[in-house]
Amino acid sequence: MWSLCLACWRRGTQSVASRGSRAEVSTVHGGLDDAELRAHAITRADVVDFSSNVNPLGASRLAREAAAKADLSSYPDRECLLLREALSARVGVGVEQLMIGNGSTEIIHLLARARLRPRSRCVIFAPTFGEYQAAVDLAGADVRFVRASEANGFNWSIPTAVRAIETLRPAVAFLCNPNNPTGVYLDEDDVRDLSSAVGPDALLVLDASYAPLADDEWDATPLLSRGNVALLRSMTKDHGLAGVRLGYLAASAPVVEASRRLQPAWGVNAVAQAVGIAALEDEAHVAAARRVIRDSKAYLYAQLKAMGVPTLPSATNFLLARVGDATRVRRALLRRRLVVRDCTSFRLPAYIRIAVRRPDECALLTRALRDVLTHE
Ligand SMILES: Cc1ncc(COP(=O)(O)O)c(C=O)c1O
Repeated sequence: MWSLCLACWRRGTQSVASRGSRAEVSTVHGGLDDAELRAHAITRADVVDFSSNVNPLGASRLAREAAAKADLSSYPDRECLLLREALSARVGVGVEQLMIGNGSTEIIHLLARARLRPRSRCVIFAPTFGEYQAAVDLAGADVRFVRASEANGFNWSIPTAVRAIETLRPAVAFLCNPNNPTGVYLDEDDVRDLSSAVGPDALLVLDASYAPLADDEWDATPLLSRGNVALLRSMTKDHGLAGVRLGYLAASAPVVEASRRLQPAWGVNAVAQAVGIAALEDEAHVAAARRVIRDSKAYLYAQLKAMGVPTLPSATNFLLARVGDATRVRRALLRRRLVVRDCTSFRLPAYIRIAVRRPDECALLTRALRDVLTHE
């Protein structure tokens, strides 16, 4: 069985935790960069974006209609009451246990500020989404990593992780599940073990943003009854609303209230609130996306295997593929008007991350990738 080496974990911890390593802090993200596109004399409309892990069908019809009807001239509700009520009915927690954010990124930052003080300690399960570290650094806290190794297929050994948490005693631990960029999806028992290790006074932030697009989603909501679990969800991935910016936190009422107090007024705009309510009514749209992802993923795996590109098993809507020099491959694909995520900022310079899109788009990508790997 794969395991996480304690010595490696300590080395990783020391190299990242010191202030001197601040330059290593990564807030690089996928998505399109207009300046970069302009430098290549192309526009957003010219490219297919495999670098953001969003619903391959885009926003639903109901969401688009709600956006068109939204009241643009009145202030939005500061409490996002109607959206929280809609979520409460769907998620099965009280409205006082819900907070809406301008994307889940805003909530990550607010949670970090609410729960961490200068020199308090935070654990991040890595490699993972870079915004946790950015938020912890801004809060002035000390960050330690429980880093899964490539040799272990980027799986964490849970017993070793539990020991690490019990030793480090962090105030907050961030776990992305399913994990970006590896696609590793821990089961409920593993997450329970981590929550027990974190202890009653600390907080395990479980970022389940990619769970709704996973093959076998399990419901993390019951974990909230443990009191030390905060569940983070982005509506930009499953509902295809990245441009709108919408995410939410489900947690105990005191955890929600502490973050809410730090949130600027009117941060979640009227379009986002209206679109969020409409999107929740369109569960069929997310189900249709899951079917597209399942088929395209099988296609991508088969094509990448035929090309000899090692690709990690992913539980959700993106794949981590080992292509050699990720920066070079990304650039070559961009020249062919296809954008993938170079994983160098995750400290994985040999890997690209590919969002699973429609089959016809995936065919474009595999054809171009074959060309790049054969001829460049
Ligand atoms: C794991 C994870 N969590 C949160 C986010 C932030 O999503 P948003 O701010 O769009 O809700 C991302 C974005 O890529 C992500 O990958």
